[in-house]
Amino acid sequence: MITGMLVTALQAACTPAEETVPGRWYTQTQVERGRLIFAEQCARCHGENAEGTRNWREPDATGNYPPPPLNGSAHAWHHPLPVLARVIEKGGIPLGGVMPSFSGTLDRDQIRDTIAFFQDYWPDDIYARWAEVNRR
Ligand code: HEC
Repeated sequence: MITGMLVTALQAACTPAEETVPGRWYTQTQVERGRLIFAEQCARCHGENAEGTRNWREPDATGNYPPPPLNGSAHAWHHPLPVLARVIEKGGIPLGGVMPSFSGTLDRDQIRDTIAFFQDYWPDDIYARWAEVNRR
């Protein structure tokens, strides 16, 4: 029925934007999209659950640092959102590291989705410290 269809269309148009995960900047949808991207693009280095490599604190035989955890147990929380996004976009090579650039692979939203995915592992206290850094 036309009226029924119209009502459905109106309801869809009026559905409020998805709420963020409580206390966080991102939505669950971003986390789920980020999960797929992370598995494809990042997990081979940073681990399936962003747990990083065991000896990430020590340079390897070539003098490079192995991929660090992004799950809240390392330093990623020191970086505000734009800096995290820039590291992923430009990679670590300009800073003397080895992480590849993703500027040709991921767009801005996809980069934010991957950040949402790994930040979702962060305990509330680490997230709160990051939020403080992010506000400055
Ligand atoms: C080829 C391995 C490799 C891949 C693939 C990779 N990274 Fe990295 N990443 C590294 C290494 C190694 C570092 C440490 C800095 C450096 O050497 O560039 C790093 C550093 C980072 C940092 C900074 C962490 C901190 O504590 O300062 C972030 C954020 C990050 N990676 C996110 C990602 C995301 C998101 C992806 C997928 C889109 C990804 N990385 C893919 C190897 C990788």
